[in-house]
Amino acid sequence: MSGPRLSRRALAGLALGTAAAGGLGGAALLGGFRWRGDPGGADLSFPPGFRWGVATSAYQVEGAAQEDGRGPSIWDTFCREPNRIRDDSNGDVACDHYHRYPEDVGLMKELGVKAYRFSIAWPRLFPDGGSTPNPKGIAFYDRLVDTLLANGIEPVPTLYHWDLPQALQDRGGWLSRDTPKAFADYAAYSVAKLSDRVGRWFTLNEMMTFIEEGYGRGKFAPGQRLPRAELNQARHHAVLAHGLGVQAMRAAAKRKLAIGPAENLHTVLPAVETDADIRAAEIATREMNAGYLTVMMEGRYTDRWLRIMGRDAPRFTAEELKIISTPVDFVGLNVYTPGAFVRASDAEPGYVQVPFPPSYPRMEVSWLFFGPEALYWAPRHVSRLWKVPEIYITENGTAAADKPAPDGRIYDLDRVMYLRQYLAQLRRAIADGAPVRGYYAWSLMDNFEWHDGYLVRFGLYHVDFATQKRTPKLSADFYRQLVSRNMLV
Ligand code: NOJ
Repeated sequence: MSGPRLSRRALAGLALGTAAAGGLGGAALLGGFRWRGDPGGADLSFPPGFRWGVATSAYQVEGAAQEDGRGPSIWDTFCREPNRIRDDSNGDVACDHYHRYPEDVGLMKELGVKAYRFSIAWPRLFPDGGSTPNPKGIAFYDRLVDTLLANGIEPVPTLYHWDLPQALQDRGGWLSRDTPKAFADYAAYSVAKLSDRVGRWFTLNEMMTFIEEGYGRGKFAPGQRLPRAELNQARHHAVLAHGLGVQAMRAAAKRKLAIGPAENLHTVLPAVETDADIRAAEIATREMNAGYLTVMMEGRYTDRWLRIMGRDAPRFTAEELKIISTPVDFVGLNVYTPGAFVRASDAEPGYVQVPFPPSYPRMEVSWLFFGPEALYWAPRHVSRLWKVPEIYITENGTAAADKPAPDGRIYDLDRVMYLRQYLAQLRRAIADGAPVRGYYAWSLMDNFEWHDGYLVRFGLYHVDFATQKRTPKLSADFYRQLVSRNMLV
């Protein structure tokens, strides 16, 4: 290579100069947000008291699928159908978390995290989807909650992470108006049993994913491809379940709870960070989430969405819209990837989509574009559009190839790079005023990755599924350092 070479010191000076110009020179107020055009700034710390955690979900980690009276879920059924799961696997054993949770709580202690987001398996508590509880089901979560508390880790349950009791699917699943009602009863029961020790709850995880993939594209359980009118009804029932759940939980609680959804906002990014493109991205975010977070936050489907759906729009009542938009204490956001990029347009609806070029970088799975700014724009859009009191990042992380090195360790530099860049953007969102109070890394450990079975790994800990041995990856070390300093490293 030829050309002038810069010394380390000169390079450091250049970097500082850029930060100063971006940080101060570019300062301006934009709708109450400080706008600094600064990807991370010199100060790398997070606010005092910021809650660092890790996340998993029941079907992906627990195993013990036939134990202690657990009934079948739609995922047990789906995994047994041919060609549904890439490696023909299932969650029968998964990470055996049902038996190994004390060891796994030990891993959390090692990381220094203060919160564990897990999900409760509905088919453990109500094996046939009816109203008769299985006491051995809740007993597992009693043990888990007590172990977490004894170790100074906050238990944060999610009530629905996609494992619908098969019996409810047999009665129509999310197409049935009775499923949201059954969800509310199950939610109230869980709260009655655990709210003496558990104060923070998430209702449903990624409504957009389990409905679109499970009832629209058929890639997830129960593998259906419904026509548009029925799909809209299923969407409506999912958000209705959330609203009925919030109300039932508050009524059943032993004390004041903090409750919110954990949704994967379809995050729209401005193609260029100008005021006009940013506004376009906000408009697009509201429209592209019309059937999910928008109706939950606003209590109405957008006019444009209803117009587009026409005769296929869901059937709903004004009372249902009120229930769906029952005020929440916080919004949980699962953020992995930019959903779309837009530019401003003078024509309706005020934006045009810019397609991802084929060379846009992706991580180890094809849907996961590397776009750290998603973790800036998701909380920023949500707080500006809907003025939510608090936001939690309920999931963020990446798949990586994770081949053990000859010394047996996993040097997942790509995951460290991903986390570091995304978290710099989260810090920037907080600095600009987004009320983000905590972050849960997905995932504590490798687990059953739905359609991808055990072929795709998202964990900070590597799991050898033959022996159930857990080994920290480099990213676990990165996360531990970050958590202990409350600062990007
Ligand atoms: C979001 C889902 O909630 C989780 O179950 C899944 O494993 C991750 N995305 C990664 O795909």
